[in-house]
Amino acid sequence: MDRKKVDLTRLYEKKRTGSKISVLTAYDAPTARALDRAGVDVILVGDSAANVVMGYPDTIPISMDEMLMITAAVARGNETAFVVGDMPFMSYNITRAEAVRNAGRFLKEARADAVKLEGGGHIAETLAEIVRAGIPAVGHLGLTPQTASSLGGYKVQGRKAEQAMTILDDARRLEDAGACMLVMECVPDRLGTLISETVSMPVIGIGAGGGTDGQVLVLHDMLGIRSGFAPKFVKTYANLGEEIENAARSYCEDVESAAFPAQEHGFPMEDAEYERLRGGLK
Ligand code: KIV
Repeated sequence: MDRKKVDLTRLYEKKRTGSKISVLTAYDAPTARALDRAGVDVILVGDSAANVVMGYPDTIPISMDEMLMITAAVARGNETAFVVGDMPFMSYNITRAEAVRNAGRFLKEARADAVKLEGGGHIAETLAEIVRAGIPAVGHLGLTPQTASSLGGYKVQGRKAEQAMTILDDARRLEDAGACMLVMECVPDRLGTLISETVSMPVIGIGAGGGTDGQVLVLHDMLGIRSGFAPKFVKTYANLGEEIENAARSYCEDVESAAFPAQEHGFPMEDAEYERLRGGLK
């Protein structure tokens, strides 16, 4: 593939020139390879892995070790996209020293290019410590799934001017703390646009309208592999869930009817060898 490694300079250049940044989540090496080959700028190893591929009900239970294993697989499959590893719940919320240590593991052990943390002004100093340690850090505001219960559930955030102002202030504080990028989730389109225009870092929207500097979707949502409901902001590009089910059903039918495996799927044995084998049977 003839593509240069995507870095922050390239992502900032895209923002400056008004060229939109494409981001998708991935959780394994072959999928990361496919997204990279398709030209996706950033692969986010979201903690959505918890519910999307690990079968947890939400993002809370996923551990550092699970996230590191998934991120490392993605990094091995990827060549050029910028890889962001999502810091799981409680990996950056206890002490700043622990947050820096955990963030460092994403780069050292999993070979991510950056980490992502959810939260506003209250995590700005933690994010600053991570950045001071030489680790690029991405913020995440609006609907933050790790704290969805304290936000009143999975709801649009910032519909009222006061709450929108708080989110805007948080975006500024994260940028001042050194954030290199920001994910804005589930906010009114106008707020997504305003924040993108206000801060210099690239703003990647998910349910934040078309005015942000880029877009991110959870891969399984856009591929139609779903375990729950699809949020309004998802555009479905394929129905792979149905395709997988149909393929598995055909396979079951073929196995039951002995249509599979056919001769072309097997390995021949010379007649003479077979006769020798039979002859040797007790
Ligand atoms: O975990 C994730 O996939 C995310 C996206 C929803 C932005 O954080």
